[in-house]
Amino acid sequence: MNVLLIGSGGREHALAWRIAASPLLGKLYCAPGNAGIAELADCVPLDSADHGAVIRFCGEREIGLVMIGPEAPLVAGLADDLAGNGIKVFGPSKAAAQLEGSKGFTKDFCAEFGIPTAAYRRFSDKTAALAYLAKQSLPIVVKADGLAAGKGVTVAETREVAVAAVEACFDGAFGEAGAEIVIEECLIGEEASFFALCDGAHALPLIAAQDHKRAFDGEKGPNTGGMGAYSPAPVMTPEITRRTMDEIIWPTVKGMAARGTPFKGVLFAGLMITADGPKLIEYNVRFGDPETQVLMLRLKSDLLPALVATADGVLKTFDLRWHDDAAMTVVMAAKGYPGSYAKNTEIRGLDAAGAVDGVEVFHAGTAREGGKMLATGGRVLNVSARGKTVREARKRAYEAVSKIDWPGGFYRSDIGWRALERE
Ligand code: AMP
Ligand code: GLY
Repeated sequence: MNVLLIGSGGREHALAWRIAASPLLGKLYCAPGNAGIAELADCVPLDSADHGAVIRFCGEREIGLVMIGPEAPLVAGLADDLAGNGIKVFGPSKAAAQLEGSKGFTKDFCAEFGIPTAAYRRFSDKTAALAYLAKQSLPIVVKADGLAAGKGVTVAETREVAVAAVEACFDGAFGEAGAEIVIEECLIGEEASFFALCDGAHALPLIAAQDHKRAFDGEKGPNTGGMGAYSPAPVMTPEITRRTMDEIIWPTVKGMAARGTPFKGVLFAGLMITADGPKLIEYNVRFGDPETQVLMLRLKSDLLPALVATADGVLKTFDLRWHDDAAMTVVMAAKGYPGSYAKNTEIRGLDAAGAVDGVEVFHAGTAREGGKMLATGGRVLNVSARGKTVREARKRAYEAVSKIDWPGGFYRSDIGWRALERE
């Protein structure tokens, strides 16, 4: 089977790594990919926003499965157009992708199906939002409704910060994504990222991970797409996992099917594990980045048949096996990220890093130019390792990080601290 993978990040490199290892694979293409993915796949300059071009490419190259990595093409309906042309696709329809595409949609959905989440109100008018805000207790959370590249959420400790967040949304800081907002209760607890494959009717739980969203050590600095992740997540005990499936994932799968918009793909539940149990912070309709990098290191089974079974709607008879080992990924980002940063700085030492026992270095934003490896994005490398414990995985990952010679980059040195405290 030939596979087309859409995306260019560390998540896609990790997915490509597993897809490329499948005995079922014919040829792997990736659009657009990066310098790391290029070692496993044929990277093609195909614009995923041009659905007609993707459909034509699939016909020409006899693509048996399209795996869509990021949310934007899903929210834009790429999966619908592929499926409508008889092309097998992993990823939800435009209607089902609303679970990530609109926070207000998801909050209303949770209310309708009794899924535990923070109490909320939706607003499309600044004056009404500010009047409501004035009566709420602190801290409080303000969210732009639509996709805002992870930047649309403000957890406000003070009223000034909350008001500024509301004003920023309505004054266009996030474009159309901020034309509507959600104001919600601040949940207290520990966060975890939980994943389940869904085929429209059935859900197969994967494993959980935890990531670190703040840029700097000690959970300080601005929010980012994620500076590192590890799995297992100690907070996801068997009991919390069971409750997550029963109270959150299953009602979602059934509710989406009942509405006539079944969810197919991977459901990524951002959870807060509170004193009352798991509550949904948000849904994503794709694999997490950088969580996928640790998931793929722990996956023992072949990934490709699982993706196909999801697309075919036969997950009920499917199972996946996982390594008991822990895994960790440390993100190396360009200095200045998530603000502005320099591009095209040179990275050396990747071979030495990759040679450390148990280590895989996934590329998130790189390009090869001549004999040089250049950093081309904000998050650039995901130095990932497996080990018997989180402590061992972490030792290996940081040993590999120390071999990378990249003066233009930075990383956090405390990934996994919550898990280490419990080991
Ligand atoms: P999101 O972009 O929706 O993933 O939100 C970014 C981060 O904001 C989450 O990972 C949480 O740390 C935090 N957050 C979002 N909503 C809430 C909430 N209701 N209570 C507490 N923290 C939240
Ligand atoms: N790591 C969080 C995300 O992928 O959205």
